[in-house]
Amino acid sequence: MKSVDPSATASTAAASTAAAKEPSRRDFLSRVGQGVVAAALVVPAAVSVRSLVPNALYEKPRRLKVGAAESFAPGPTFLPEQKVYVFREQRVFHCLSATCTHLGCTVQLARLAAGTAPESFEFHCPCHGSRFRGDGTNYDGPAPRPLDYYALALAPDDGQLVVDLSEVADKGWRLTVS
Ligand code: FES
Repeated sequence: MKSVDPSATASTAAASTAAAKEPSRRDFLSRVGQGVVAAALVVPAAVSVRSLVPNALYEKPRRLKVGAAESFAPGPTFLPEQKVYVFREQRVFHCLSATCTHLGCTVQLARLAAGTAPESFEFHCPCHGSRFRGDGTNYDGPAPRPLDYYALALAPDDGQLVVDLSEVADKGWRLTVS
């Protein structure tokens, strides 16, 4: 009678269990195929959804109402949203950019003397020390050019001041409000 080695039987059983747990070549190819099919469905769907979103730039409007002319106090008023200073001298208005012409920091107003005229003020840049006179002229620090002027207008519907940030105006540009 043939005797059976119990240890050989146990190792054969363990090997067949391990083989059963390992994915077969067929399973592997099946999963790869499923992945390819899923990608083939998802990519065109994503492209279709993206095509519904227009390639438009949603920029802030460049012409902005900033309030009634008479609401501005004499001298400079900083408008943080537009990053500009609106100067009022009696009925004459002008608008200077608060963006430093070096690297774009916001310049700070500094009072030099009493009064509301531009000569009574300067603009100092907190980032690298550029300095500008009240009329925007750069005179110290790394800023390469004066502060920009922007045109002002009166809105035809309600008479508010409108700042036009779309175009740089000539230095010395003024609006007289009657
Ligand atoms: S950003 Fe104003 S001096 Fe540099």
